[in-house]
Amino acid sequence: MEEVDFIKSVKDEIKDKNLKYVILTFGCQLNENDSEKIAGLVEKMGYSKANVFEEANLVIFNTCCVRENAEERLFGKLGEIKKMKETNNTIIAIGGCMMQEKSMLDKIKKSYRYVDIVFGTHTIGTLPEDLYKVIIKNEKVKNVIDIDGEIVEGLPIRRNDKFRASVTIMYGCNKFCSYCIVPYVRGRERSRNPEDILEEIRRLAKEGYKEVTLLGQNVNSYGKDDFKYCNPKVQTEINNFAKLLREVNNIDGIEKIKFMSPHPRDFTDDVIETIRECEKVTRIIHMPLQSGNSKVLKEMNRGYTKEQFLELAEKMKKRIPNLKLSTDIIVGFPGETEEEFEDTLDVVRKVEFEQIFMFIYSKREGTRAASREDQVPEEIKHKRFDRLKELYDSQVELQNEKYVGTVQSIMIEGPSKNDETKYCGRTDSNKVIVFKPNGKEKIGDIVNVKITENHKWFLVGEIM
Ligand code: 5AD
Ligand code: SF4
Repeated sequence: MEEVDFIKSVKDEIKDKNLKYVILTFGCQLNENDSEKIAGLVEKMGYSKANVFEEANLVIFNTCCVRENAEERLFGKLGEIKKMKETNNTIIAIGGCMMQEKSMLDKIKKSYRYVDIVFGTHTIGTLPEDLYKVIIKNEKVKNVIDIDGEIVEGLPIRRNDKFRASVTIMYGCNKFCSYCIVPYVRGRERSRNPEDILEEIRRLAKEGYKEVTLLGQNVNSYGKDDFKYCNPKVQTEINNFAKLLREVNNIDGIEKIKFMSPHPRDFTDDVIETIRECEKVTRIIHMPLQSGNSKVLKEMNRGYTKEQFLELAEKMKKRIPNLKLSTDIIVGFPGETEEEFEDTLDVVRKVEFEQIFMFIYSKREGTRAASREDQVPEEIKHKRFDRLKELYDSQVELQNEKYVGTVQSIMIEGPSKNDETKYCGRTDSNKVIVFKPNGKEKIGDIVNVKITENHKWFLVGEIM
């Protein structure tokens, strides 16, 4: 049987039963994008989206294993759901990168036997077959395959937003930062065929989407794998990230392009030049720093020093007018001393990031950093986190002030929460702007707004 036959069989079996699904997504935007594909598949089989968790007949967890807290949340929820299963016969499926970890898979098999389906990051496409086995054959399915599988194209997708869309351009990671589990669970870098990507974006533009975010663990490594995981194999001129960006920039109807995440090590001059010339690419770029200390960076296997990061940030700001940077920072990496942490604060003071995603180092079994003896005590890690947050908060206040008088191009998201006569939207750096509409605009339009006031948690503007 083919996937389409499984879809049809499940659809026939559950028709008229009004069955509902819910997907709980943990982790990053890549997982959100996978969840949109999962939703596309289960809706094709006849399930509709549940309004509340409790009414779901099918619960799907899309897990993340980058940091420890997602595991606690998953197991907490699984305990809760057990009772639901006893009364409603709810089908439980768990997928995502946590399931690619052998220890996690073993734990589910041993202690959570009531889970019906386990699938991996590469087996989303076989969900119809998995559900068929559970519903029709009354089997349990554990369908996790190795991590370097070929790229599967053409899955249906049910997007969460009508105007903004995420498009995964590559899977996996080859960088092996010493704290990170991603290369072990998501496998080697695998770039999608550029024609498939561009076709997807052209279709999105036709459907009315105006903003796309290109996703990958390392978007600026795009094409370095020579497309060997594509099926059929491709030979293409669009063989690096800069060239792909230019092509996306040429697509009519797309007005804004974002991407997440690049690696500082691969931020080559041609990528900088391309961004400068492609006016649709937003002027806020995410560039994960992780640590501001060269010794720690070396131990993290990041491939750059403090000075090199500062030079790169400087060069980018110089070449791309109005550029702002956002970043990820980990505090409390094993062995991090007080002085080394101070270097991170120093870089934060110098670069003045627009947004910082801060993480407390979390030990991931199987990674190099996890086996180190010199783990930083929890209390110190938390104190450093608070100090970094304090510095960042003080910078944000000053930054908001700098927005007053500037013109921002934003997408109208909807009425303001506190005042229905006003609209709100977000700057590319995620700051909320509230403004009075002229009457002609509608939700989803991209408009220019001049910022007039800073209210600390939001900015007020006037439509131009
Ligand atoms: N502990 C804490 N943060 C981590 N990240 C990745 N691995 C870990 C870990 N073991 C953070 C990095 C990365 C972001 C997605 O998650 O900052 O950029
Ligand atoms: Fe993890 Fe480093 Fe790869 Fe990012 S670049 S996914 S932090 S190994």
